[in-house]
Amino acid sequence: MNFMITSNPFSELSQFVPSIAMQLFVITMIILVVVGTLFDMIHKKNVKYFFENAQKAKKSASRSVNTGEKISIVFNTVTSDVLTTSELDGKRRIAHLLGMYGTIIFWITSVIMIFCYSTPSSVTPSFLPLLWHLGAIMTCLGGYWFWFFLRVDVAAEANPWYRVVKADLFVLSLVVTATFGLVWSYLQAVNVSGWDTLFLVLFIISNLVLFGGVYWSKFAHMFYKPGAAIQKKLAEADGSRDNLPAPSDKPKQFGLGIKREEPKHY
Ligand code: HEM
Repeated sequence: MNFMITSNPFSELSQFVPSIAMQLFVITMIILVVVGTLFDMIHKKNVKYFFENAQKAKKSASRSVNTGEKISIVFNTVTSDVLTTSELDGKRRIAHLLGMYGTIIFWITSVIMIFCYSTPSSVTPSFLPLLWHLGAIMTCLGGYWFWFFLRVDVAAEANPWYRVVKADLFVLSLVVTATFGLVWSYLQAVNVSGWDTLFLVLFIISNLVLFGGVYWSKFAHMFYKPGAAIQKKLAEADGSRDNLPAPSDKPKQFGLGIKREEPKHY
């Protein structure tokens, strides 16, 4: 038996499936993401609206922001809003960071192993499969935590955790893919013949749903969110604030009613 966590499942797989087939699969997944995102942008017209709105907001700018300041705003937004998901707080933020970094690690190590170490004779540096398994585990931790406890309709609206709607397509296909990947790798390492093939097929199908479902799922938020965060910060700096009023500096006066239930912010 191989030690699962340090063995490269794609190199094992290459005894039955040529590496070129695995590489073509990865390329197909990338094309699916690009096509799905383009269709999403055309259908929702969100990017068109985004640029038109940014142009419109510029007209109400009260000061001009120079290039140096713009670069520093973009840099700060990327290092805070994007890399540390600072839009979210507390548990929600930790769960998102686990899922986001887990997924990024899982995808990058999958690509490296499939393109560089997917022949039966490949000698894979053991940190690659180690990170691949770690990435999948982090995705599961963040994703299942979100799924069972943090989803707004479960946490705030008391819907049961097993209620599935279209909006769950992304998070579900993401965690299920990571789970099937782990189970496949485990079964391959313990050599239970047949079962590992079943989970390989399930791993393939869940990847097809995850990457083929971009048009219908929240997948593309990972591209839109950074752009929107940068625009918001730029609009704050030039005083246009996306044509929204500035926060009031008056003391908060909501009356006692607001204390009846703790507010939940998302
Ligand atoms: C590989 C990159 C990423 C992955 C895998 C990922 C994963 C996820 C998942 C699974 C959800 C839950 C979706 C749902 O409501 O069902 C989510 C929500 C969210 N993501 Fe991401 N994300 C990524 C990148 C980003 C980036 C770059 C940002 C911001 C700049 C971001 C901000 C958010 C926000 C604000 C939510 C809503 C969270 C909530 O409802 O609690 N994500 N993300």
